[in-house]
Amino acid sequence: MRDGIMIALAKGRLAKDTLGIFEAAGLPADAVDLRSRKLVFEDAANSISYILVKPSDVPIYVYHGVADIGIAGKDTLMEENLPLYEMLDMGLGACKLSVAGFADMPPRIGHTLKVATKYPNIALEFYAAKGENIEIIKLHGSVELGPLVGLSDVILDIVESGSTLKANGLRVLEDVCDISARLVVNPVSLKTKQKRIHDIIARVAAQLEKKPCE
Ligand code: PRP
Repeated sequence: MRDGIMIALAKGRLAKDTLGIFEAAGLPADAVDLRSRKLVFEDAANSISYILVKPSDVPIYVYHGVADIGIAGKDTLMEENLPLYEMLDMGLGACKLSVAGFADMPPRIGHTLKVATKYPNIALEFYAAKGENIEIIKLHGSVELGPLVGLSDVILDIVESGSTLKANGLRVLEDVCDISARLVVNPVSLKTKQKRIHDIIARVAAQLEKKPCE
């Protein structure tokens, strides 16, 4: 789509909630059918295309300029640490990144703390700032299993309701940071498609101010 805008959405609840905000902001989202298996949707009338990607891949599509704009969790953005412009806090998907483990974790004698996580870069940086050496065990899901089966001492993961930790007898030991979805922009796109991108951001920002997210 010539002079069009490509927006990368994270498949799942975040895409649904983002499109709700876009719709309210006067950016019709009915071109996107989240129930279909299609991955590319075109809103020809507004010259906007949408791609549905795995949440952790959103920053990669924006970094390579395939997407001009992306909506991604702050956790993913921190982990990828790519040079993107973070323009808006969408207020969606609010949760925390925390270190969790057993409340009565035995003292570690003679071994490096083993941290199971989907976020190795964030974990390394968090512990480096405290001057602690750790061993990373990279997992892709069900991270809470780590301490349960003796794979790791602790986990560093998303905590939303806390029910996964509770169901597995774990508790938060330390908070790392607050997380929510952010609207990010490719730096080149911001120059070459300045007017259109600023218009989209202004509409979304006005909508967020009008109806702050829970
Ligand atoms: C996420 C996260 C925690 C859980 C936290 O996992 O990794 O496991 O949600 O949510 P809660 O505090 O509300 O219980 P997800 O559901 O994405 O699945 P995964 O473990 O396969 O990554």
